This record gives sequence, C-alpha cells and structure tokens, in this order.
Amino acid sequence: MFRTAKPHRLLMCRPQHFDVVYSINPWMAPEKPVDNGLAVRQWEELRRLYTHLGHAVEVVDPVPGLPDMVFAANGATVVDGKVLGARFRHVERTAEGPAYLDWFVRNGYEDVLWPEFINEGEGDYLTVGRRILAGTGFRTDSRSHAEAQEFFGLPVTGLTLVNPRHYHLDTALAVLSDTEVMYYPAAFTTGSQAVLKEMFPDAVIASDDDAAVFGLNAFSDGRNVLLPKSATGLILQLEKRGFSPIGVDVSELLKAGGSVKCCTLVLR
Ligand code: ARG
Repeated sequence: MFRTAKPHRLLMCRPQHFDVVYSINPWMAPEKPVDNGLAVRQWEELRRLYTHLGHAVEVVDPVPGLPDMVFAANGATVVDGKVLGARFRHVERTAEGPAYLDWFVRNGYEDVLWPEFINEGEGDYLTVGRRILAGTGFRTDSRSHAEAQEFFGLPVTGLTLVNPRHYHLDTALAVLSDTEVMYYPAAFTTGSQAVLKEMFPDAVIASDDDAAVFGLNAFSDGRNVLLPKSATGLILQLEKRGFSPIGVDVSELLKAGGSVKCCTLVLR
C-alpha cells in the first residue's frame, strides 16, 4: 500500500529546564539523576527529523520552574485552527496552561477557549480524521469531553484508561492516518476496548513489551511514523502495513513519563 505524508505544523518546547523533581506518574523518580544536556540533544534530534521530513516546527519559550513544559502535547488541543486550552490536574503543571495559551494568542489564533474542566490537551485528545478520541481516568475530567465536542463541533468518543503507567491517551494509542490507529488494549477498561474494536477493527495492536517502552507515544504524518526505537515489534508491524517507521531515542525524557508524541503538539 502506498502511503503519502501530509506536511504538518507542529509546536514544540525545548527541554532547557527539563528535570524530574516531583512525581505525578509512576515513571517519575526524582532521586534518579537526569542529564539535561542529553535531553536537549535528543529533543534537538527529534526536531531536526521533523524539519527534515518537511514539517514546520514552531517553538514556544520554555519557562523556568516548569520542568514538564517540554511535553508540548499537553499544552492545548488545536483542531481547525480552534484552540482548547489545557487545564492541568496537578498543581506542579498548572502554570503551563496559561503559558501555552499565551503563545496561541500572541500568534494570532482567534478562537481560543480557556476551559471549564480539567483536560491535558493532546495528551488525552487525539484527532482521527473528523473524529476526536478522548481519554479519561487519570488526568482529563470526563466532563471535558462534552466541552470539547461543543467547542470543536466534532464527535468526541470517550475512552477510559486504567493502567497508571499509561495515564494519558497518547501513551496507549497513536493515530496513524485519518482512519487507522494502533493501541494497547490492556490500558483501557473492557468497555473502552470494545468501543475501540468496533471503531477500528483492523487496528495495529501493541504487545506488552512495545507498550512498556512507550511505543504508542508516536507521531504519524500518514506515511512516516516517529516512535521510540525500542518498540521493535510495532516497527515491524508498521512496515508490513506500508508505513515508514523511524525509531527515535528520547530515553532521557522517558524518565518523566514522556516520549515522541508528548513532545509534539499538532497545530491542525
Ligand atoms: N511528567 C509529565 C506528566 O506526568 C509527562 C507528560 C507526558 N505527556 C504526554 N502527552 N503523555 O504530566
């Protein structure tokens, strides 16, 4: 099957102030040292790859004291140029919401909503064609799903996460094209697994090993799929389906529970 890449506009945030100083997910161990220089180099390589593939990468200024701000995916949800701001679950990250929203306002986005309910941006909202999949269970309040549906005017399907290591939807499911996804069933409730099966009967299913290295925290432009290079099983499956998987090393950022997709906000 021949696949075409669609050029995207992406927003990223340099991990200048990246560190693990608190723990809000099971990956984060503040007593383990973090090599900030290595994190920056790995991030620069990811940015270089995006540019090399023809994507336009915008950057937002990192704010001192916000070590998780590198995870741009959590900064907002942008669909059809409309921006749903993020409102974080944990106090350690709350200041990131306004910091990201400010970037959108300064960059000429006019339809910007400061949300009523907690939602962690594209960490929990993933767009598949003209539909939106929405995670809940750990971070995003399920009441936010109705708010997003009303704001974007697109159908929003709620999915409930149950495994604390997969606390955001983008750690358990990745969108590959306008009609295809890959996911890790065990990260979801039985009901949500059934919904996913109904919506995507041909989905790529991730093994325990691939899910455990955050292989689903991937970005796809419809042809190239950037994902953690240790997700070898997924890389093989994607090749078989005609995608061009590209293994990336962002191991330093994984210490905070984030990988490729977390560093990437799609400006749709
Ligand atoms: N340390 C961050 C947190 O727990 C990691 C966020 C990862 N981002 C993502 N889109 N999954 O909130």
